[in-house]
This record gives sequence, C-alpha cells and structure tokens, in this order.
Amino acid sequence: MNRFLGAVGLAALSTGAVALSGSADAASLSVSVKPFGTMPDGQAVQLYRLENSNGMEVDVITYGGAIQSIKAPDKDGRVADVALGFDNLDGYLHTDTYFGALIGRYGNRIGHAGFTLEGKAYKLPANDAANTLHGGPQGFDKHVWKAAEVPGGLELTLVSKDGDEGFPGTLNVKVVYTVTDKNELKIDYTATTDKPTVVNLTNHSYFNLAGAGEGDVLQHQVMLNADRFTPVDSGLIPTGELKPVKGTPFDFTKATAIGARIDQKDEQLNFGKGYDHNWVLNKGNGGMTKAAEVYEPNSGRVLEVLTTEPGLQFYTGNFLDGSIHGKGGKTYGRRGGFCMETQHYPDSPNKPSFPSTELKPGQTYHTTTVYRFSAR
Ligand code: GLA
Repeated sequence: MNRFLGAVGLAALSTGAVALSGSADAASLSVSVKPFGTMPDGQAVQLYRLENSNGMEVDVITYGGAIQSIKAPDKDGRVADVALGFDNLDGYLHTDTYFGALIGRYGNRIGHAGFTLEGKAYKLPANDAANTLHGGPQGFDKHVWKAAEVPGGLELTLVSKDGDEGFPGTLNVKVVYTVTDKNELKIDYTATTDKPTVVNLTNHSYFNLAGAGEGDVLQHQVMLNADRFTPVDSGLIPTGELKPVKGTPFDFTKATAIGARIDQKDEQLNFGKGYDHNWVLNKGNGGMTKAAEVYEPNSGRVLEVLTTEPGLQFYTGNFLDGSIHGKGGKTYGRRGGFCMETQHYPDSPNKPSFPSTELKPGQTYHTTTVYRFSAR
C-alpha cells in the first residue's frame, strides 16, 4: 500500500481512526477503519473506507456489510455521495429499507415462505405478507460481519448456522469489496455449505447519481441488457413466465428515462408500484456481461453494472415515502433512489424452470458484480 495515501485516508477520518498496514498496491487502494457504533448486544460495528487514487471513496460498515457511502466525481470532477444511507448505526437498526446491505441467504422473494429440496420441505419465516423477502426478518443484512483487509480491498465473512432463518446447512459466506483505479466497485461473493441448500446473494445499494437526497431519480436514463423479464403476481412472486419486454414499459433495451413510463396503466407496474421486477439478462456466452447502464444528465455521472448473474432486480424506491432522513439530514422521498440487485430470479427454489439456486456440499457458490462509475 502507498503509505502516503494511507495517511491521507486516515486524516480524512475522525478521531479514533486506525490506518491498516499491508493493503494491496495493485489498485493503489487505501483502506482505513473507524468505529461506527455499538449493537444493542454490545458488538462493535466498524466503518471501512476504501479509497483509490482517483478520488473515488467507498465506505462499508460491518453491520449488514452495508455500503454506507459512495463518493464519485461528476463530469466537472465534483465529487458527491451517490448512495443512500445513514450517518449512524441507529438509522440502520431502525429502518427496513436495506440501504446498501448485503442480502442473504436469498435475495428477493420466496413464495409462500417455503420450498422443497431433495424431497424435504423447509418452512421459512414470512416477512413480506405470506412470503419471505431478502432471507427473512433476520437476514444477512441484520448481522455484524467479520472484516479483514485483503489485497485490493475488504473481506467480510459470516457463518450462517444450519437452520438459520429456516434454511438448511451451515453456510460459510465471504464477500470481498474492491475499489479499482478505474472507479469500479467490485463485489465478489463466495459461499460453501455442509448440506444441500439454496443461495442467492446480492447487494441492496440505492443509487442517486445526482447525489443521495437530491430529489427523485425519474430523469435518470436507464439501459437494461435484457429482452425479457419475469412478470409477477400481486405479491411480487414470479408467475414463471419469461416475458418479452418489447412493446411494454419494461423495455429498457434502449436508454430511457426511468420516469418516462413508470406511471402508465399497466398491471405489472401497478403490482410493483413502479419498477420492482427481475429482468432476464441477455447472457450470450455467459460469464461477466454488462447488465445495465444508467446516465444522469445534469451531473453527467454514469453507472455501469456488470455481472456473472442471470438476473437483475431493478427497483425504483417505490416504497420510500419521505419519512426517512438520511445522511446529512436529507429526506429520501418516493423514488429517491434506484437499486440494481444482481441475482438469480426470485422464487427460483419453487420454479424448476428457472436457473437453479441450489448449492451442494463440495460445490462453491461464486458470483461477481461490478458497479463502474464514470462521467460524460
Ligand atoms: C427489493 C424488493 C422490493 C422492496 C425492497 C426493499 O427490491 O423487490 O419490493 O422490498 O427490496 O424495500
């Protein structure tokens, strides 16, 4: 690690910060850490700052492994925080918005809070009407993750016990956050199990490329590399159909403002109160492919999303209602942020025709997603 950058990173933090030694120089990344709060049970929560040499800065807290802030330059080099979140732990403990959090064991919904795997039925706690959302009421977003600095970034680990939130098998989870000199935030997820189980990990960051708290995202132009999406029922559980987007408000194959069609009379938009659906990504030969590109015309900021995953939950913050006061006391109103949750399709454990989310002992779950920031 570049010691000078390390010192700069340290200076930027408030009292109590500790510079870590030995971080990677591959991306001349500086990593520093400071306390972020204490859990009701006494566990300490830390904030890690990952900072590259281009002025991009990502703060991650060990509670929920949540991305607390992303500072990225606009077309004139002005830096703003483009991720919704809170200034203190209390904010995270008392809201259900999943701001920036790591989501597991199962991102998005499992219908009727249960599934059958290898002939055995598993019952999960329901936390979204009759369904299980984002791994249940005590999902991975509610845990304090163990943190360690690794070459190029931050490693977070969690051991989810056999039976945790109803899921079988002890799951060993590792998530590595890296910030590259190309202003990419890379998230690498791995998991192993000791019994057959299902896994679908993602990150629930809300972005506003004009700056968090700077109004709604309706002017942002979105391109999604997807010819189909998975329509849902009124409980937001996929019907099983892979429906062409052509001729619907779900067609983002060409860059289109989020607000252009969001309030059209459409059963699917009505169910989601806007966009809250999984798009079936065009994968070509598989591997890492571009999922999305978002452009905010005033700042010129661009977010590209690349992923190994087959799906993307594009959610437009329809449930934000202005009652939440985030960082700097700013209000997060309806559609004040959008999420790009790379994932396997919702309810896959109950949809044999969807790509499988099963993980068996001896196998390693491994997915990668990159959020790349630029400006034009
Ligand atoms: C996901 C879901 C939404 C909502 C948010 C969190 O994106 O699909 O319906 O629950 O998480 O508010």
